[in-house]
Amino acid sequence: MPIRVAVPKETLEGECRVALDPVVAKRFAALGCEVRMEHDAGAGAHYVDDDYEDVGFVTDKAELLASADVVLKVQPPTEDEIKQMAEGSIVVGFMSPYRFPDRVKLMRDRKITSFAMELIPRISRAQSMDALSSQAAVAGYKAAIMAADRTGRFFPMLTTAAGTIRPAKVLVIGAGVAGLQAIATAKRLGAVVEAYDVRSATREQVQSLGAKYIETGVAAEGEGGYARELTEEEKRKQLEVLAKHITQADAVITTAAIPGKPSPKIISQEMVDNMKVGSVIIDLAAEGGGNCEVTKPGEDYVYGCVRVYGPFNVPAMLPVHASDMYAKNLLNFLTPMIEEGELKLDWEDQVIHDSALTHDGEIRHEPTRALVEGDAS
Ligand code: NAI
Repeated sequence: MPIRVAVPKETLEGECRVALDPVVAKRFAALGCEVRMEHDAGAGAHYVDDDYEDVGFVTDKAELLASADVVLKVQPPTEDEIKQMAEGSIVVGFMSPYRFPDRVKLMRDRKITSFAMELIPRISRAQSMDALSSQAAVAGYKAAIMAADRTGRFFPMLTTAAGTIRPAKVLVIGAGVAGLQAIATAKRLGAVVEAYDVRSATREQVQSLGAKYIETGVAAEGEGGYARELTEEEKRKQLEVLAKHITQADAVITTAAIPGKPSPKIISQEMVDNMKVGSVIIDLAAEGGGNCEVTKPGEDYVYGCVRVYGPFNVPAMLPVHASDMYAKNLLNFLTPMIEEGELKLDWEDQVIHDSALTHDGEIRHEPTRALVEGDAS
């Protein structure tokens, strides 16, 4: 029997992405899978059912999930979805285990093998599966567009018969995947871009995109290439230097995050009070509380004379390419598990081992297990 791959329509409000685009659906079919999707599953990403070849569409979601060997999701499966999946089946998607411990418990109890895209190790071999990166790139691009759209001024320098217009000044704080894409996009739009990150390794990356790297004298490389939390003294030093750049910017885009921790507050209320009239802050760290003290997570509002926007789920705002990239990540993750039309999970493989959240009645990811079951093993 072929491997039955199922894709339900995402149910979270505002989630326009779909886990499978027409191109990748064909690739799964070519691997010998039988692909079935819920009617209209691609609609949010502007894909109609007819765009998908070699895919069967159904309206009965419960039957779709119950008969699947592998379920592909963008958002974590809901409790209802988990209850409908067959025992022993596989589900792959973002799992947000710390936000949804009850769902993790349910997947454990129903003996569902769940793979969390956010747990795929960031090793070279797994780059093509790295959905955190693909979706962060989308968010960074969109953040620059959002900033440009809200400034009320041009980003590029323009020499016109009506005079010369100076380019906008954009400051990007946090030069990870999202920040670098925001820099590249703002540069393409013609802005003068400055950027800062606590990881000094980003200096060259920032400069290679044609932006100026701001030196604060604070370097905070942490484990696994991520940033660590700053000491109070480091924070003070960093803010002193950044304050000047923030007050001169027309748009500030912040992307600074520390995995598993609330986002560091980098822009104080006082700094916003000193910003230029009509300037803009796009706070991509809003889901972790925001990098700016006046960010209202999820809201787009005017504080004093500054437009402050802390959007949620930005990749869903560019659903076509976000879905295409995400679907490719899923394909690249699952392909090595499919041998001659059969699923073969090699638990010695670091990618499979690290990304498994639940399997065979156990929570495999130790930090999640400790959270859900307590520290005693
Ligand atoms: P992230 O989303 O966790 O954080 C965004 C950025 O904010 C990071 O660059 C971080 O250094 C910075 N940041 C944190 N606290 C800050 C503060 N107080 N002030 C200023 N900046 C601050 O990061 P992302 O984009 O997920 O990437 C993190 C690391 O993972 C990077 O080293 C990146 O190169 C690496 N990576 C490696 C990959 C691979 O080898 N397969 C793939 C993607 C990323």
